This record gives sequence, structure tokens and C-alpha cells, in this order.
Amino acid sequence: MKKLLAVLLVLAAVLFVFAACSKKAEAGVEQARSTDVTQGMDRKIVMGYSQIGAESEWRTACTNSVQAAAKEWNIDLRFSDAQQQQQNQLQAIRTFIQQKVDIIAFTPVVETGWEAILKECLDAGIPTICVDRSIEGSDRISTNPNDTSDPDNWFTAFIGSDMEQEGNRVAKWMMANVPALKPDKTVYNIAELQGTVGSSAMTGRFKGFRDTLGIPAATALGTSSDGKYKIILSQTGDFTRAQGKQVMEAFLKSNPDDIDVLFAHNDDMAIGAIQAIQEAGKVPAKDIIIIGVDAVKGAFEAMVAGTMNASIECNPLLGPQVMETAVKILNGQPVEKWVVSNESDYDQTNAAAAFPSRQY
Ligand code: AHR
Repeated sequence: MKKLLAVLLVLAAVLFVFAACSKKAEAGVEQARSTDVTQGMDRKIVMGYSQIGAESEWRTACTNSVQAAAKEWNIDLRFSDAQQQQQNQLQAIRTFIQQKVDIIAFTPVVETGWEAILKECLDAGIPTICVDRSIEGSDRISTNPNDTSDPDNWFTAFIGSDMEQEGNRVAKWMMANVPALKPDKTVYNIAELQGTVGSSAMTGRFKGFRDTLGIPAATALGTSSDGKYKIILSQTGDFTRAQGKQVMEAFLKSNPDDIDVLFAHNDDMAIGAIQAIQEAGKVPAKDIIIIGVDAVKGAFEAMVAGTMNASIECNPLLGPQVMETAVKILNGQPVEKWVVSNESDYDQTNAAAAFPSRQY
């Protein structure tokens, strides 16, 4: 009995030492992550974050990434959901200024209307990070940091995708694949579901798609320079599944047999449209070729099931880059004006292999 007791005591002591060591290791990581800026401060970095809302699978993944990264970096995150209203974003950012947060990150729901609030942040000495979507007039390069009329000088850094390039990638995928998928045709009619009107994700994808096809960027409908691709329908579905379905239903009513390709500015709208196509008695991914943007899980499921053709990735896992950039800015270290995301294209040829390792 005594021997058993002794063994148990030794075991408990070993476990205690092991737990203490791993706690220390964790604290070490935290200290490294919280970096110099918090040294000598008796509090954490405070970041105000104005998110657009929860309109899509992509947005949920982005929010989760930001919240998890804030924990990981030991940053006190004040998170505000604007429910798709710019007014709510302006209000939230003003509140962050009053609260004297250390740094503000925000995703502008639309491109216009940011000058005044960003100048208020500058006047208050609070740096800002633009996440995912950008603002009007910004090319995310600042040639003269003293030029207050250049929108690129109203924020400190931008972290996100090249939306125009995503539009280019959709058009390139379409031109490379649609002729083989629809061999009975030589001219292809395209229906387009646009994202939230006036958002950089919408304007960028809209323009990039047309640029690659040789269609003037300012026109909604038009024919490619080689005469093979015609945008015959183009309307917003506001990046939501419900509106994607609704608008596709209307497209199919007005043009029951004419649509060869659907370009949806995001996967949620593509998934909504697939339901509308099925309900109209057509076969998605065969009668109508479906290309989305985002590469979220729902799109992978559809590609593996054979109801969607392709999804052009837009990476929502921006949280770690946001936190790292914030800490660098607050430490006075140089940061890139534009931290661009790494992205790939997926279709029915590589979706099944990539699916198991997808994080969103
Ligand atoms: O700004 C990124 C876009 O916004 C994503 O493509 C879309 O799904 C989201 O709602």
C-alpha cells in the first residue's frame, strides 16, 4: 500500500511539473506574439474591428479567422457587425475613436464615403487597416505620403485579394473550359450575378471579367472581342444565397433556353442559383456551366457532387495577417501598403483531392 502511495505521489509530481512547463511554453508564445509594443504596457493592444455582416459562408470564415487570430496574438478585439449598413460602420468607427483604441481595422461594405471618417482616425492618431475590400480611388500604392487627397494615405495598410484579378481568372477559366464542356455551341451566352453594388469585390470582379474578354469595363452587357462570349444578363444578388436564387429564377423565366454560362460573383449566389436551375428542370454544370468565386466548402461539395463547375479562390483567412500587421504598425516597423493573399483556382478536376485539407 505504502509503495503504491509513493508511486502515485511521484506520478502526480511529474504531471505537475509537466503542466507547469507547458504553461510556461504557452506564455512564451503569448509574449512573443504580443511583441515589444506591449512591453512596459500594463494592458493588451486594443483593436476596434468593423465587419460588414454575415452575408456569406466566406464572411463567416473571415470573421472566425479574425477572432481566432486576435486571441492567438493576445489582442483585445472590439468586434462590431454592421449588418450590411455603411452607417453602422461609420458609427462603430466613431465609437472606437472615442474609446481611444490603439488601432482600427475595417472592411468597407462599399467603396465610397470613407474620406471623412478615415481623416478623423488620422487626426486622432489612430492607424487604420483596410481588410478584404478597398475604398474608391485607392490603388494601394502611396507615391507621396504627404498628399492628403490620395485615398491611399487615408489608411495605413490594406490586406486582401486582387478582386480585378479574380474577374480575370473567371474569364480565363471560362475560355479555357467552356468550349469543351459545350461542344455543340460556338457562341456562349453568359448570365452574371453581381455582388453588392458599389463594393470593391463587385466592381473589381465585374471589370476584370470584362477586361479579359475585351468588353468595355463600363458596360453591363456586351460581346467579347472574339465574338464567342455574350453577357446577356447581369444583375445583383447582393452576395447572398437567397438573392442568388431569386435573381436566377427571374433570369430563367425571361431566358429559359438561352443561358450557357453563369458567372456568380460569389459561391453563395452560385449555390442559390443551382437550386433555381434544378427547380426549373435543368441540369446544373451541364445545361448551364457554373463558375463562382471564393472556393468555400459549399462550392467544393457542389463541385464534388457535379453540380458546379469551378470556383476561383478568394482567401478569407486574413486574421493572422491583420494581427501581425497591426503589431508591426504599433511598433513603428515598416509594413507593406498592400499585403496580397495567395489564391488558387478549383474545378471538378482537382476539387475532390483538395477538399479534405480545406479550412473554410
Ligand atoms: O469581399 C469578399 C466577398 O464578400 C466574398 O467574395 C463574398 O462571398 C463576400 O460576401
